[in-house]
Amino acid sequence: MTDLSPNPYSPRFIITGASSGIGEELARQLANKGYALGLIARRKDRLERLSKEISKHSANVFIKAVDLGNEQDATEAYEELSQKLGGLDGIILNAGVGRDDVVAPWLSDATTIDINVRAFAHGMHWAFEYFKHQGHGHIIGMSSIAAHLASGHASAYTASKHFASNYMTGFRMKANAQSLKIHITDIRPGYVVSEMTQNNPNTFWMASTKRAVQMMVKGIESQKKRIYVTKRWYFIARFADLIPSFIWNRLSF
Ligand SMILES: NC(=O)c1ccc[n+]([C@@H]2O[C@H](COP(=O)([O-])OP(=O)(O)OC[C@H]3O[C@@H](n4cnc5c(N)ncnc54)[C@H](OP(=O)(O)O)[C@@H]3O)[C@@H](O)[C@H]2O)c1
Repeated sequence: MTDLSPNPYSPRFIITGASSGIGEELARQLANKGYALGLIARRKDRLERLSKEISKHSANVFIKAVDLGNEQDATEAYEELSQKLGGLDGIILNAGVGRDDVVAPWLSDATTIDINVRAFAHGMHWAFEYFKHQGHGHIIGMSSIAAHLASGHASAYTASKHFASNYMTGFRMKANAQSLKIHITDIRPGYVVSEMTQNNPNTFWMASTKRAVQMMVKGIESQKKRIYVTKRWYFIARFADLIPSFIWNRLSF
């Protein structure tokens, strides 16, 4: 029989956006490895269901249903979960919203900026201060291959992922300058099966959620600075970086 008593050596991680897609699968795979987890998203029913499922593998799973767009609620959620976990070794800032909406384009862009940029930056700040005080920690941010691209159909989304990746580089530089043992992992997936991609007809090289998250977990545990999922997207990234702006301006996707 599996021993589910709390293991004092289990890594303790918070995952945001754990109610579906990549975040949900990250919770599943890390719980299977015995991690203690604090899970955040808005949909409480989904978190409760997931928590019940993965509690079979991890003795310590806590959930908090909040809208990360509300900074006070987000701070309280991070504080509460880290206390319940008895400390924190890592945080995966995964919550995000997807493509532009043609019906309400400004509202859609505003939400993308609120969550993918502002809430992400708020999570980075909270985690950096927490780990700085503690003396060590691991921050993982869910960027995207979109950090290398521009798009007329998803301009806020691609720009938000440029921000996320660049922001993580800045925080890595800050940690290095202060000789802090804070690792920062920037994950840049291509297309992965999730609620975000299910209605997008223009996807290709789609990775299964399970396979993509296996690669992410391997990279996280190796404390990699940057992870492309799947690996072939690395070559798209390098190629995209070489495209001059006068060509970007003429592209129509
Ligand atoms: N799927 C891909 O192909 C792909 C590729 C590159 C990068 N990514 C990135 O991967 C991350 C996860 O996306 P996914 O593909 O797994 O999509 P998803 O299934 O739609 O998951 C998004 C998660 O973010 C949470 N979330 C959204 N707004 C929130 C808010 N205001 N407060 C709290 N939680 C919020 C959602 O939970 P609630 O709705 O319950 O709040 C959900 O758990 C995103 O950052 C996305 O940009 C995805």
